[in-house]
Amino acid sequence: QSQTKKTETGKKISPYLFGLFFEDINYAADGGLYAELIQNRSFEYSPTDRTDWHSLSFWEYTTPRYSYGSLNVETSTPVHPNNPHYAVLNIEHVGEAGVGVKNHGFENIVIKQGDKYSFSMFARQLSSSPIAVTISLQTPKGKVVAESKINVNTKDWNKYTASLTASASNDSTSLVILATTKGKIALDVVSLFPEKTFLNRQNGLRADLAQLLADMKPSFIRFPGGCLTHGDGLGNMYRWKNTVGPIEQRVEQKNIWGYHQTAGLGYYEYFQFCEDIGAKPLPVLPAAVSCQNSGGTWRIGGTGQKALPMDEMQEYIQEVLDLIEWANGPATSTWGAKRAAAGHPQPFNLEFVGIGNEDKITPEFEARFKMIYDAVRAKHPEITIIGTSGPFSDGEDFDKGWTVASNSNVPMIDEHYYKEPKWFLSNLNRYDAYDRKKPGVYLGEYASWGNKLYNAIAEAAYMTGLERNGDIVRMASYAPLLAKKNHTQWNTDMIFFDNSKISLTPNYHVQKMFTTNQGDYYYDNVIAQNVKDTTLAASCVKDSKTGDIILKFVNNSNVAKSMKVNLSTFKNYMSSAAQIVLSGNANAENTLEHPQNIVPVYSTVNVNKVFDYPAPAMSLTVIRIKIL
Ligand code: AHR
Repeated sequence: QSQTKKTETGKKISPYLFGLFFEDINYAADGGLYAELIQNRSFEYSPTDRTDWHSLSFWEYTTPRYSYGSLNVETSTPVHPNNPHYAVLNIEHVGEAGVGVKNHGFENIVIKQGDKYSFSMFARQLSSSPIAVTISLQTPKGKVVAESKINVNTKDWNKYTASLTASASNDSTSLVILATTKGKIALDVVSLFPEKTFLNRQNGLRADLAQLLADMKPSFIRFPGGCLTHGDGLGNMYRWKNTVGPIEQRVEQKNIWGYHQTAGLGYYEYFQFCEDIGAKPLPVLPAAVSCQNSGGTWRIGGTGQKALPMDEMQEYIQEVLDLIEWANGPATSTWGAKRAAAGHPQPFNLEFVGIGNEDKITPEFEARFKMIYDAVRAKHPEITIIGTSGPFSDGEDFDKGWTVASNSNVPMIDEHYYKEPKWFLSNLNRYDAYDRKKPGVYLGEYASWGNKLYNAIAEAAYMTGLERNGDIVRMASYAPLLAKKNHTQWNTDMIFFDNSKISLTPNYHVQKMFTTNQGDYYYDNVIAQNVKDTTLAASCVKDSKTGDIILKFVNNSNVAKSMKVNLSTFKNYMSSAAQIVLSGNANAENTLEHPQNIVPVYSTVNVNKVFDYPAPAMSLTVIRIKIL
């Protein structure tokens, strides 16, 4: 329930209002934020992911001059039962350079001159003598730009590693593994990471993308979805236990968005990243039902079952409880020990858990949600549980979702909506009338359809409304976050990227201007608002940690307009304040080729006790005032 303490001038608001939503959609994880450069590293791709994929997809059998042999996929003695397929190379004649395989990565591997790359693979010799292997990175014309050698000399699976240093920069290399001794070897979990990952973490994140997220200073990160959470059938529901532990033991599976998840970026990595950037982790677990509880048929033709059978519910509930022990339990507890063994003896301080994502509010859902909710609440009253309002922003089903959640006394409810910019502008007051006695809101997914400046400014106006209602709206996250060129299933996203370039949308800049300028107290009498002019919106908050006063002004019209500011509530403020302005042509957008069309401009301005702020046409301005 809301903790609001109304005073003469304002109210306390949530200190966690603006965070991030991360889902492995649009190649956001594998091929995206997860820094692994090899695609299908464990030979686990299959027609279940996509009808034309198989164990050797993205691999090429290579027999440079005069060599011959064969390449097969086997399953009889895997590295781990969770990782059943592996490749077997039979080298019959070594020829000039050996017999081997090439991997083209996620549409080639980009390397930088002088940078080091960490190679590893599991291998075993299947013939009597050890097998010498050359690992290299090669250009499309076969020029070797990095090389290292390994001797596979174990009869059992063993992890072999090598470091490769790039002698030149190249945007389209492949990894080439050539066995240069006659005989037979098995290979699996063939991996290549840049040594420079975000904070140089092992099994880490792509440094440039992760840094952009860190720069946003989000107060929380929601993961792993979105629809990825519940999958499109019970077969690919996201089960967190499958995503922790050594990567060769994780369970790979079909991604609901039509590709494959290695789970290399799993719960351990999500929690570590949250800790690294000071964001609260917000895992969302399935409510034991699959995609909108409909068998997954509504969106991408899934054919899975609807809901976990009741006789599996106790086990499932235990899985949810185990997550809390894994995250917060002492290193001596069963699951805390697993976290410690992975390298994190200290708890991760989990405070929020979401249960369900956009689930249709059916009797199946209701029964399972309640069972999970009651069990978590009974064992972990310290955890804030977030329920779901279902897939809609209003209407009968939405009301039903709210009723179910309110009846259970759920502390927060996750609402989702994607709408035209016009909708956002005509709903700036959506939360003003929300009953403060009812559960709080987590606006877990929202965006206006588009990545033009006009969309971003409409969202900015809406976000000032979220701040004004920050006593009842306790968290909010734009969605989706990341989208890779040529692999985008959802067209409106916050950050677009390819293997080397990044384009920050105007929506990203708006989000960042809010996430880096959050407050925990809202003042309602500092900026005069003409409620009849919906082209203008504004907010004023205080960040108690720094004492700073933060003003935000939004003008979504095509002409400059003034807003009146009165700072007399504040004593001893510095007249020189930091200012950020994002403005431009309503239809302007950034692209990978032209990423700087719309960027915020940083400056300082002088503020007086009373002044008119001239908000440029189509703009968001943030002014941050220091208190002495
Ligand atoms: O953000 C993209 C998708 O939109 C999410 O997976 C889902 O929850 C929503 O329908």
